[in-house]
Amino acid sequence: PATAHPHADGDVSVGGVRLTALAERFGTPLHVVDEDDVRRRCRAFRSAFHDGEVAYAGKAFLCRAMARWAAEEGLSLDVCSAGELAVARAAGFPGERTLMHGNAKTPEDLRAALGHGVGRIVVDSFHEITRLAALASEGARPRLMVRVTPGVDGRTHAAVTTGTDGQKFGFSLASGAATEAVRRVLGQRGLALAGLHCHIGSQITDPAAYEEAARRMVGLLAAVRAEHGAAPPQLDLGGGFGVAYRPGDPELDPAAVAERLRRAVRAACAEHRVPVPRLTVEPGRAIVARAGTTVYRVVSVKHGVAGGLLVAVDGGMSDNPRPGLYGARYTVRLVGRRGAGGDRAATVVGRHCEAGDVLVRDARLPADVRPGDLLAVPCTGAYHHAMASNYNLVRRPPVVAVRRGRARLLVRRETVHDLLARDVG
Ligand code: LLP
Repeated sequence: PATAHPHADGDVSVGGVRLTALAERFGTPLHVVDEDDVRRRCRAFRSAFHDGEVAYAGKAFLCRAMARWAAEEGLSLDVCSAGELAVARAAGFPGERTLMHGNAKTPEDLRAALGHGVGRIVVDSFHEITRLAALASEGARPRLMVRVTPGVDGRTHAAVTTGTDGQKFGFSLASGAATEAVRRVLGQRGLALAGLHCHIGSQITDPAAYEEAARRMVGLLAAVRAEHGAAPPQLDLGGGFGVAYRPGDPELDPAAVAERLRRAVRAACAEHRVPVPRLTVEPGRAIVARAGTTVYRVVSVKHGVAGGLLVAVDGGMSDNPRPGLYGARYTVRLVGRRGAGGDRAATVVGRHCEAGDVLVRDARLPADVRPGDLLAVPCTGAYHHAMASNYNLVRRPPVVAVRRGRARLLVRRETVHDLLARDVG
């Protein structure tokens, strides 16, 4: 994170707090989140999209404190389940600034959304439209957005590519399913159409992909207007803004993307003669990824394996499944002392019972790295705590926020009692 600060003795501070002190106080593995860094990125998106809406995608990282930070910084919140909505509600996040969007929302999700006055629900299937129409007849008139697959390839990892036909998300623009979905929503007296939505994928680094999606979505707005007399007022272009996990990796600048999108949308609207819609974006990773650091303790070191040092730590794929799932790459550094003997090629592996449990490939670590040492992996704020599991019945790590020299526990470490609490057979 921006506030990371190395000390001469080999320690590193984040948010004005030494990582060694945090490891001492809270144990390892440990997720550290830099609150000022999160807030700064919220503000950067807010000012980039000052004439639109920024909805933080809670799936990247959500706890009550995070929801409060987003609320205080003027963001909306995108939740994808009744569970995320419950956390948002517990934090007092305003219902009207909440969007619910999931690929296959269960009746429980939909009831929770309606019951809690969620501002907009993004629909992703005809069944969902029918279900919502039935539920809506019982009370409030929900405002919907239609999730569209615009046929744009964001050129990212296949597991997080969502803008092309042939994957599970959205109504295809090319096949006419999107216009049919709009027809069905407008055909239901109990439903309102608030806007159109697309999300072309995650960890996208090419702004041109967003522009292309925006142009196609404006084309759809025009088709809706031609057929129904009016186009909905909102265009949600989703999230997916790529971040640099390692020095030199590409990263999208929110202000630059906002400017390009604004221009592309205005031009397309002029061409199609439709009113300019209000833009929404849904960044998750770009808000929190860089703010997170995970601290591990070295458990063992094997020399001369895998072409160098094989360093095993006390966490692994249960707190970071991303290398295994997406081939994600990270950096790592020793903290708390200065290493000796020069740098060596190293692979950092986890404690889990799989050969694929690798956290960092192609790392460089001091030759004398040894059990008890602390290692820090930066850029772990998005989809780490959120995707953590109990594989091997490992207890999930705590999340600690740091700010201006102080640390605050946000989510405590799981206990063996937690693990046994659900085992009722
Ligand atoms: N909006 C929608 C509709 C989404 O599906 C997503 C992410 C976002 C916004 C936020 O995307 P972001 O800005 O965070 O890239 N577990 C994967 C990422 C899955 C993303 C799912 N949808 C990973 O760790 O890379």
